[in-house]
Amino acid sequence: MGYTAEDCARSRLDFPALQAGDTGAPLAYLDGPGGSQVPNAVIDAIRDVYVHCNVNTHGHFGPSREVDRRMQAARRAVADFLGARDESSISFGQNMTTLNYALSGAIARTLSAGDEILITELDHEANRGPWLRLAERGIVVREVRLQESGELDTTDMAAKITARTKLLALGGSSNALGTVNDLVLARRLTREVGAWLVIDAVHYAPHFPLDVEALGVDFLLCSGYKFYGPHVGILYSAPGALARLPTDRLRTQDPAPPFRIETGTLNHAAIDGVRAAIHYLAGWGRGATLRERLVDAMTGISAYEHGLATFFYESVGGIPGVTRWGPSFAVAQRAPTVSITLRDHRPDAVANALGDRNICVWNGDFYAAKAVEVLGLASRGGLLRTGISMYNTRAEIIRLLEGIEAL
Ligand SMILES: Cc1ncc(COP(=O)(O)O)c(C=O)c1O
Repeated sequence: MGYTAEDCARSRLDFPALQAGDTGAPLAYLDGPGGSQVPNAVIDAIRDVYVHCNVNTHGHFGPSREVDRRMQAARRAVADFLGARDESSISFGQNMTTLNYALSGAIARTLSAGDEILITELDHEANRGPWLRLAERGIVVREVRLQESGELDTTDMAAKITARTKLLALGGSSNALGTVNDLVLARRLTREVGAWLVIDAVHYAPHFPLDVEALGVDFLLCSGYKFYGPHVGILYSAPGALARLPTDRLRTQDPAPPFRIETGTLNHAAIDGVRAAIHYLAGWGRGATLRERLVDAMTGISAYEHGLATFFYESVGGIPGVTRWGPSFAVAQRAPTVSITLRDHRPDAVANALGDRNICVWNGDFYAAKAVEVLGLASRGGLLRTGISMYNTRAEIIRLLEGIEAL
């Protein structure tokens, strides 16, 4: 059956932020690519940690044993969410950016001057900045070209992956343009030369089922607050990959994966919240195991979001003066994120006018600054971005269209 409009109406009851109406029109949260709202299950899980096991891990008393159990359960849930066999593949951190800096710093120590790494013009700065700084150590950083269509030039990618290439850092999906990159091709090309493949799945993970083992990625990062959980960064490392890296860590820290890259005390309550978010998502799917329910749920939610985004993309294209950026919805895979510009209004003015109608959308470059620059939009205030989440409705899209039309 998939995930239907009726399911969406039911899911909305689980998100207290969507009920918090005061005066005026209800808030339409169309800012999912910036961060999603959380269901009660997540809020309850966080509270529960503070009530029952707000202590450090690895102690010989009940609450500490309990927090150990919950951290392990969270790693298991994330492993199921990403398609990883082993919980020891799942490390946690403050957010994706911080984890990616830790990863790039460790990988840098294994490289030599003259080695090459490849990033893209489409990626969020969080998957560019940590790699660009490696140029300071004599490592050559090359960039895959972004085309005007909003898609990466895969011929350029293939040409830039050579025997000198040690790593490709690539986004699963663009948080600015909704483009979904060809990860299978990226894996094939990097494998041919023995280069690492690092995927930023922050914008991909909320919208598509993931299977890290089928993809064969070396590292994949995502962020709990984009898929209905709290602010926690997540790093998947392929079995054996993290153990080889000279990470920054204390002498007293457990050097085994997944702890090898986890510095300091983790945010246990938030991590349990991530577990709760994953179980919440699985509740919308069918199957005998958590993994099966997750894949089923994410497949259904993906199709639902795609339908609404297509409706918005097609309708907004009919409004005079609107330009749509990024690939059309005719491509094989497309995230439900639509960015536009208006002929006579800067994106910040449009976001402001929509904000006055309690419609929450973002404007600017969303840290996909290079892509916005390449598209020639940096001096024009960037883009106006609408993102669809599992709790968004057709009625909200119609309100958004009316708001844009009114301008
Ligand atoms: C595609 C993408 N990558 C990385 C990030 C950074 O994630 P975090 O805020 O967890 O550091 C974001 C955040 O917006 C993003 O959209």
